[in-house]
Amino acid sequence: MNPSQAFDPLATSYDDTFTHTQIGRYLRDQIHARLDRHFRAGDHVLELGCGTGEDALRLAERGVQVTATDVSEGMLTTTRTKTAGNVLVRVERLDLRTLTPYPPLPHSEGEQLDGVFSNFGPMNCLEEWGTLASWLAKHVKQGGIVGLGVMSPLCMWEPLWHGLHGNFKTAMRRWRKKTVFHPDGVSEPITVTYPSISRITKDFAPHFRRVYVQPLGLFLPPSDVFGAIEKRPRLFNTLMALEKRFGQAAALAMLADHYWIEFQKI
Ligand SMILES: C[S@@+](CC[C@H](N)C(=O)[O-])C[C@H]1O[C@@H](n2cnc3c(N)ncnc32)[C@H](O)[C@@H]1O
Repeated sequence: MNPSQAFDPLATSYDDTFTHTQIGRYLRDQIHARLDRHFRAGDHVLELGCGTGEDALRLAERGVQVTATDVSEGMLTTTRTKTAGNVLVRVERLDLRTLTPYPPLPHSEGEQLDGVFSNFGPMNCLEEWGTLASWLAKHVKQGGIVGLGVMSPLCMWEPLWHGLHGNFKTAMRRWRKKTVFHPDGVSEPITVTYPSISRITKDFAPHFRRVYVQPLGLFLPPSDVFGAIEKRPRLFNTLMALEKRFGQAAALAMLADHYWIEFQKI
């Protein structure tokens, strides 16, 4: 029996509080556009930290075979329920912190992966990314894409919003480099890190070449502020217009809530 994980208590509410919000949908659509560029029917793709399986299901509905993995049994159960009946999705437990010695790739039967992705933060549970890059290098085809959605170290929203509301601990949390995520105080806590684009690029560099970066949530807020913004339609529409106009500028990626970074296997 695996120990209860920090995300377990969120598994049944995550889609309501994030996936199905207007802002959550817009941000996820940006990633779906990237995934659609790279992966097509017949490809086999590994997902790391799949959460409730929203992206795995979307890809499988387009004919992509997805091995969806996560450390949280609660999240895995939600993914299994959501993707039940779709033979292209396989759901497996994988803890990104235990990649040495390298675990076998679930259900790969020796084949090389066409790509790998990890959306909205699983990379932030690691303190170095070289071990992951070396493991992925063994399993990804030459030219294959690894796409990662990472919580950025500078998110301009957090100091502004939480500072203005007098919540200075939250306002400055990313500047401390590491925080602890422990929503119910009972399950196993997660140490959260905020790696820079250059740090992840350096750790992937022996095996992968960086090919793309974009901000994700530059003018749109982090998820704990979605509700406050979505109930103010004029502000929401203004922020959405700014996001659509300037939200793809790679140079601003470190100021967003997340950045999306893509590597190609050398
Ligand atoms: C914010 S959620 C993102 C979920 C999903 N990728 C999405 O797009 O909504 C972060 C996920 O990372 C998972 N995670 C955290 N630490 C992990 C680890 N060490 N290994 C694998 N998954 C992990 C959590 O269980 C959670 O499902």
